[in-house]
Amino acid sequence: MNILVTGGLGYIGSHTCVALLEAGYNVIVADNLCNSKEETKNRINQITGKELTFYQLEVTSDYAVEEIFNQHEIDGIIHFAGLKAVGESVEKPLVYYYNNIVSTMVLARACQKYGVKRFVFSSSATVYGDNKAPFIEDMKLLPTTNPYGETKAMCERILTDIAKAYPVFSVALLRYFNPVGAHESGLIGEAPNGIPNNLMPYVTQVAKGKLEKLRVFGNDYPTIDGTGVRDYIHVLDLAEGHVAALNNLKEGAHVYNLGTGQGTSVLKLVKAFEEANGIKIPYEIAARRPGDIASCYADASKAERELGWTATRNIVAMCRDAWNFEKTYRKHGENTKKVLMLF
Ligand code: NAD
Ligand code: UD1
Repeated sequence: MNILVTGGLGYIGSHTCVALLEAGYNVIVADNLCNSKEETKNRINQITGKELTFYQLEVTSDYAVEEIFNQHEIDGIIHFAGLKAVGESVEKPLVYYYNNIVSTMVLARACQKYGVKRFVFSSSATVYGDNKAPFIEDMKLLPTTNPYGETKAMCERILTDIAKAYPVFSVALLRYFNPVGAHESGLIGEAPNGIPNNLMPYVTQVAKGKLEKLRVFGNDYPTIDGTGVRDYIHVLDLAEGHVAALNNLKEGAHVYNLGTGQGTSVLKLVKAFEEANGIKIPYEIAARRPGDIASCYADASKAERELGWTATRNIVAMCRDAWNFEKTYRKHGENTKKVLMLF
C-alpha cells in the first residue's frame, strides 16, 4: 500500500516513516525542506534497510502535488507538513494560515480527484485551549491564543465537513500532546534551530553546556509542585499511533488524542532527565510564559479502545533518547533551516 507522507522528513514525520516502512507500507514523502534536511531520508533508509521515495515540493501547490498522484497510485495520506512555532505564528499569521490551511485543502482536493479515501491529519492538544485536563475528544474546543492553534482547529473543521459530505472519506484527526525523545539509534530526532522554545530540547542543550541554565516558567500554578504539567509522549509511540490510525480508519472524521494520559511537571521532568542521564540540570524559577496553561494531559482511552494503541515508553526512555540524539546529532552538524517567506 502506498502512503503519501507530507512533511515526512520533519521530526514526527521521519519517525512515522520508519514505523510505516517497518509495518510494510511503501512510503512516498513530499517535503519542501523548510524545516528539515534531505539527509534525514538516508537516515530513515539506514534505520529500516528500506527505501522511501522523496519529492522536494511545496504541498500548498495543486500542481506540484498532482505530479505525485500522476506518478503513483496513492492509497492514503498522512499530512504532517505544516509550520508549528507558536510565537512565530503571532508575528506572521498570514504565513501560518496560508501554509497550514491551503496545504490541507490542496491534499483534500487531490483525494477527491484521485479517489483517495484514507487521510490522517496532525492536529494538536492546543485546540482544547484552556479546558480542564484531562482533555477528552468530545470536549467543546476553546479558542487558542495564537494563529498556529487556530489553523489546527480550522483544518479539523474543514476535514470534518468534507467527511460529512462524502462519507466514503475516512479521516483520523490526531491530537498530539507533547512529543519528545528520538529514535534510539540517535540518527533521527528533533533539532530545532537557535534557542529552543520547548522544554525537552532546552534541557538537552543545557545538559550539553550550550545553554547555561533552564528557566522554569512559573512555580505558582495549581499543580503538584507549582510548575506546568504536560503529557510528554515518546515520538516512537506517537509514530506507532499513526500506523494504528491508518490501519483502523473508518468512514467519517474521527478525533483521537495521542498522549500517555500521564501529566509530568517541569520539575519532575528535570529530575527524570537527571536520573536517566546522570547529568545535573541547573535551573532558576522565572515568570510565567504568556499563553501557557497550568495542566495539559490526555484522556487517552479512545485511541486504546478504537485503535488498539497505547503509549508504552516512559519518561525515563524519553529523557534518555532525547539526550542520546542531542549527543549523536551534534556530531553530524547543525540543521540548516531555510528562511521562511516573509509577508
Ligand atoms: P517539523 O517542522 O519537524 O516537520 C514539518 C515538516 O513539514 C518539515 O519537514 C517541513 O520542511 C515540512 N513542511 C512545512 N510546510 C511545508 C509545505 N508547505 N510543503 C512541504 N513541506 C512542508 O514539525 P513536527 O514537529 O514534525 O510536526 C509535524 C506536524 O505535527 C505539524 O503539522 C505540527 O503542527 C504538528 N504538531 C506538532 C507538535 C510538536 O510538538 N512537534 C505538536 C502538535 C502538533
Ligand atoms: C508548546 C506550544 C503548544 C504546542 C506544544 C507542543 C507554546 C506557547 N505552546 O506548548 O502550542 O502544542 O508546545 O508542541 O509554545 N517550560 C519552561 N521553560 C522552558 C520551556 C518550557 O519552564 O524553557 C515549561 C512551560 O512553561 C510548560 C512546559 O515547560 O509548562 C512545556 O513547555 P513546552 O515544551 O514549550 O510545551 P507546551 O507549553 O505544552
